[in-house]
Amino acid sequence: MHEKVITAEGTPNIALIKYWGKRDSGLILPMNSSISLTLGKESKMIAGKTFELRTKTSVVFSKYLKEDAIYVNGKRLDLKDTDTIERFRAIDMMRERAGIRERALVVSENSFPTASGLASSASGMAALVYAVAYALDLGLTRSDMSRYARIGSGSACRSVMGGIVMWNKGTREDGVDSVAEQLYPETYWPELRDVVSITSPKAKKVPSRAGMARTVATSSLYKQRVKDVDGRIDAFLDSLRRKDFHEFARIIMEDSNSMHATMLDTYPPIMYMNDISREVIYAVHELNKKNGENVCGYTFDAGPNPQIITLREQVEEVAETLKNIRGIKSIFYTGVGGGPRLLDMKDSLIEEGSLLPKG
Ligand code: PMV
Repeated sequence: MHEKVITAEGTPNIALIKYWGKRDSGLILPMNSSISLTLGKESKMIAGKTFELRTKTSVVFSKYLKEDAIYVNGKRLDLKDTDTIERFRAIDMMRERAGIRERALVVSENSFPTASGLASSASGMAALVYAVAYALDLGLTRSDMSRYARIGSGSACRSVMGGIVMWNKGTREDGVDSVAEQLYPETYWPELRDVVSITSPKAKKVPSRAGMARTVATSSLYKQRVKDVDGRIDAFLDSLRRKDFHEFARIIMEDSNSMHATMLDTYPPIMYMNDISREVIYAVHELNKKNGENVCGYTFDAGPNPQIITLREQVEEVAETLKNIRGIKSIFYTGVGGGPRLLDMKDSLIEEGSLLPKG
């Protein structure tokens, strides 16, 4: 009996120590460990349009379904597309674990632009794996869930937990030790804020999967980055333990710059930032200089949209700085989130009594 409709909600995470590059592209095993902040689902508007950073996903497995059907933002996905097959392999793996053959209906809605460097894949995979785990009564731990989420998108494995999360790269060839671990719950440093600026809502030109493979294959600078990250992680963990924001901000900026440097060192080069992104970088360093210490730090994923990590009392100052930069389309901020959770039946995206998406 697996006819339960389960609806779950997930949020993105922002990597503070970045993952960029795999040692095994089949199993999605990273070259280095990474650390992130799981974002809160509520955002507060500063300027322009605000996006809630979350994905809602409903799932049902049923013997009445002839084939799997996955809808994302109202569009049915082509399950013959190899990239899509790769992304959703986790469903097959979990179905196998449950020992069932029933097909699945998945309906998912993102509340923010997909593929814009705002980690829509992370919140999507986290919500999906969470919902499937409950729909199939798998009794999984969060660590187990992170293994399945990793298959869909590496960075997603960190979104199955709240607070500050580390994805341990692991050393085993079969990847079983490449799992996420919660370093601190969302209550540990509740003053942390992520101020997001949208400089371009367009989808990125180079998908991260293809981009990182090209970096590993062609960038000599990348080898240095992999060596540097271990030491950086130790220093970062120390800044977290001491809640030393100045150090914390320095390390995240350094790591973001290091990742983007290897992208530029890739052949042909990959450039995710735009002129506005660079203006933001200069403005953040100016603001920190004015304050005599780091009161904020930027970080960029595979996209041009800056995410500025700061503390609650500094949000206004950061917002004022950003408002002076021309071309930013919207600015909003969010806090630390608690990770995926189940929603009520009334929030379901599947029409009651049918096997169809609502609406
Ligand atoms: O796992 P993917 O394909 O979402 O890779 C994302 C990599 C970065 O967002 C650039 C960094 C990270 O660690 O999230």
